[in-house]
Amino acid sequence: MLVLGIETSCDETSASVVRDGREVLSNIVASQIDLHSRFGGVVPELACRAHVEQVLPIIESALQDAGIALGDIDVIAVTSKPGLIGALLIGVSAAKSLAWAAGKPLVGVNHIHAHAYANWLENPDTPYPAVALVASGGHTSLLLCSGPAEYRLLGATNDDAAGEAFDKVAKLLGLGYPGGPIIDKLGKKGNPKAVDFPRPMLGKDSLDFSFSGLKTAALYTCYGQDSRGGPLPMPNDLSEERVADIAASFQEALIDVLVAKTVRAADLTGVREIVVGGGVACNSRLRAKMGEAAAQFGLRMNIPSLKFCTDNAAMIAGLAFHSAARGEFAQLDLDASPSY
Ligand code: KG4
Ligand code: ZN
Repeated sequence: MLVLGIETSCDETSASVVRDGREVLSNIVASQIDLHSRFGGVVPELACRAHVEQVLPIIESALQDAGIALGDIDVIAVTSKPGLIGALLIGVSAAKSLAWAAGKPLVGVNHIHAHAYANWLENPDTPYPAVALVASGGHTSLLLCSGPAEYRLLGATNDDAAGEAFDKVAKLLGLGYPGGPIIDKLGKKGNPKAVDFPRPMLGKDSLDFSFSGLKTAALYTCYGQDSRGGPLPMPNDLSEERVADIAASFQEALIDVLVAKTVRAADLTGVREIVVGGGVACNSRLRAKMGEAAAQFGLRMNIPSLKFCTDNAAMIAGLAFHSAARGEFAQLDLDASPSY
């Protein structure tokens, strides 16, 4: 079965053709980083305009790259939730129009589930059930994956997503956007024990996350306790070493929480298999520490390669194959939703 996947939930326009949920024939990703970087975060209105311009050419490229005509496609799949509502609507409208015009069935895909599924694209033999940590710019969630299209939410962030915290702390430190990769690189030069940042765990059995306190602690560390009100000066008085130390310590605290909660989720569900997805899964320290924790607690861990951790349509097309195989199709009234 050939599935055309379309992804426009945030700041990447992507289209992909995947055969039978695992063979990626094409995966075109147009990033909008240049558009948003001077604002230090995604500007929804700009993202929407760029998606409108990009979506049809990107779909065209994905078909061309796969050497496939639209008529050969069996199913059209699109991210329908969660994400920026305006951005999602552009992908959903494009998918519905194509499905109607070409007479193809349509599948609506949950973006968070697809980030978890990205692991099975590359490692299709990973056994079920598995606990998935999905950490990205918009989401931080733990899921119980019982089968290819069977996911149950175990916990999620109450405030900032992990990637969002990386991006905001990078902005505080006067670094660029997106902050995650920059802090990852800079953190290698800093001392992760220099600042004793809090590790918010929210109670013994909680599988939810909260990163806003950690972000505020980073703010106070940079500017002192008086920074609560008023305009912030740029941290010119922070030495390069101090910036690297704060970056490394912040990263360590956030990753400790991600790792501890994932292990806790495996423990509470009795699952031995861990997978990680989302843009933050590119983080080298997270990849290393999750691996160490898995070894320590006798768990098996899989993380996809970097190109399938960040937003991409291959994970959408891949997961949609399993929904289609179960007969779970959407109708042409498919709507987008900003929430899970
Ligand atoms: O999954 P993704 O591409 O888009 C969303 O669904 O949000 O994730 C983007 C997020 C950004 O916040 C970015 O800073 C973060 O992933 N990210 C990283 C790294 N690479 C990307 N965070 C930490 N370390 C990295 N190496
Ligand atoms: Zn994502």
